[in-house]
Amino acid sequence: MESGSDIILEGKGLCKGFPGVWKHLILDHIDIDIRAGEIHTLLGENGAGKTVIANCLSGFYMLSEGQIYVKGRPVTLKSPKDAIRHGIGMVHQELALVKPFTIAQNIALGIPSSDFSFPIPEVEERIRELSQKYKLFVDPSARVEDLSVGEQQRAEIIKVLYHDPEILILDEPTSLISADANHLFDALNSMAEVGYGILFITHKIEEAMEVGDRVTVLRLGKSMGTRETAKTDKTELVKLMFGEHTPVHLERKPVKSNRVVLEVKNLEALSEDEEPALQDVDFSIREGEILGFAGVSGNGQSELAEVITGLRRVTKGQVFINEKNYTNHHPGEIIKAGVAHIPAKRREMGVVESMTVAENVVLKDIRVPPFSNASFIRVSQITGHTKKIVSRFGVLVSDLWKTQVRILSGGNIQRLILGRETWRIPKCIVAVYPTQGLDAKAIDQTWELFMKLREAGSAIFLVSEDLNEIMALSDRIAIMYKGKIAGMFEGSEAKREEIGLMIATGASKS
Ligand SMILES: Nc1ncnc2c1ncn2[C@@H]1O[C@H](COP(=O)(O)OP(=O)(O)OP(=O)(O)O)[C@@H](O)[C@H]1O
Ligand SMILES: [Mg+2]
Repeated sequence: MESGSDIILEGKGLCKGFPGVWKHLILDHIDIDIRAGEIHTLLGENGAGKTVIANCLSGFYMLSEGQIYVKGRPVTLKSPKDAIRHGIGMVHQELALVKPFTIAQNIALGIPSSDFSFPIPEVEERIRELSQKYKLFVDPSARVEDLSVGEQQRAEIIKVLYHDPEILILDEPTSLISADANHLFDALNSMAEVGYGILFITHKIEEAMEVGDRVTVLRLGKSMGTRETAKTDKTELVKLMFGEHTPVHLERKPVKSNRVVLEVKNLEALSEDEEPALQDVDFSIREGEILGFAGVSGNGQSELAEVITGLRRVTKGQVFINEKNYTNHHPGEIIKAGVAHIPAKRREMGVVESMTVAENVVLKDIRVPPFSNASFIRVSQITGHTKKIVSRFGVLVSDLWKTQVRILSGGNIQRLILGRETWRIPKCIVAVYPTQGLDAKAIDQTWELFMKLREAGSAIFLVSEDLNEIMALSDRIAIMYKGKIAGMFEGSEAKREEIGLMIATGASKS
């Protein structure tokens, strides 16, 4: 691209520390520049500081040190409004539109207006234009609560484009829509073609290779350097990201036991909007067995996980845990029965964000030994236990009793939940997208962990959109399609093409 050398946004020596929380800097003298017409990828493992950089460049955080330049002129960004004024817009890692409002109403909310009269028809027209231009298809008059995650994300991007930025920062946009990332990449490419500068954040090396013109690698708050994508390769990026890292080899011994731990019979349940979400679902999982549910999300997998963990009512059929009927029992009783849950919505359902790391680790166990006795909470026991989990799972946290979970990075929260839910070697684990948001090393560790839990006898209900993960872990593979189990394969016999076809069409032959 000819205009590729025009630097729009530049950060020099960017530093960020959080007073009293960390001894070292979260960002340590980072240099980065983004040019007109380029997609610049920021790559780094969980907790590397990607979101913090994005927040500094878009006015959500103030720098501790360093200088930001917009087209060569030094600027101070005291708020997101400042950043927008300088042409910098950010799409956050988590979705944040107001649910009961339409897309147009959401976007109108962000338009400066003195008399609160929002010109909705105009806004809708403009949304349609932007939506056409970049193939970010959304219906401006649709209510956000009726939208899929992908549509919400497209709306978030349009919301930022609405302010005519020159720079667009996207924080891990693909962690929400991994199956549908290509559409997003097309849109980003067409934006870059008309001259936007794009900072695209990811922890996935494949994406960095596929999408960006240049890539900057971050490791624990330090920049490991910037490369042209065409002149680097996967091996180099892995090294920059992790230092030396060797992928795991998973060994699978046959399932030893015939004892059924989880059994589901003729199950039916409704979705949020009272539509049938599950129909005729029948399966069982034995001790030491992993049953993997493959499929595009939205085909009933999350409803099924909710039914098993007691978070959604069953309208027909039964759920048995260790041969006891637990249909429509309270979630607390299901936890007591030995079912651990790694939920899809980690921030909403996996943790209490306003509580500290230690409090979250014992969330479900605070009233039982060894963490409390008849009348006392045993702080030292909890501290010791939390320390173990944090160090085994590599959760980056400065003070177990002071750091609120809210400020942990997404991947670090996932690690915390994995640690809390699995240390007891539960009888049954309901794991929904267990490796979402994790970097390559943490994914390997999680896969190893699941194999160990399987060896130790846990029955594992696994939902994943990643076919590699399903195939690496599962003893049997169930394919969900439109609320039903469309097919079931022995893991060892499963063929990728056959599974792929069934995921897409619900049938084994088209
Ligand atoms: N407000 C804050 N106060 C203290 N520490 C913070 C704050 N925000 C972030 N951190 C810490 O800064 C580090 C970097 O976090 P950041 O969210 O930037 O990671 P990330 O690279 O985006 O990781 P992920 O891939 O998991 O999203 C983390 O250890 C996090 O706990
Ligand atoms: Mg992040």
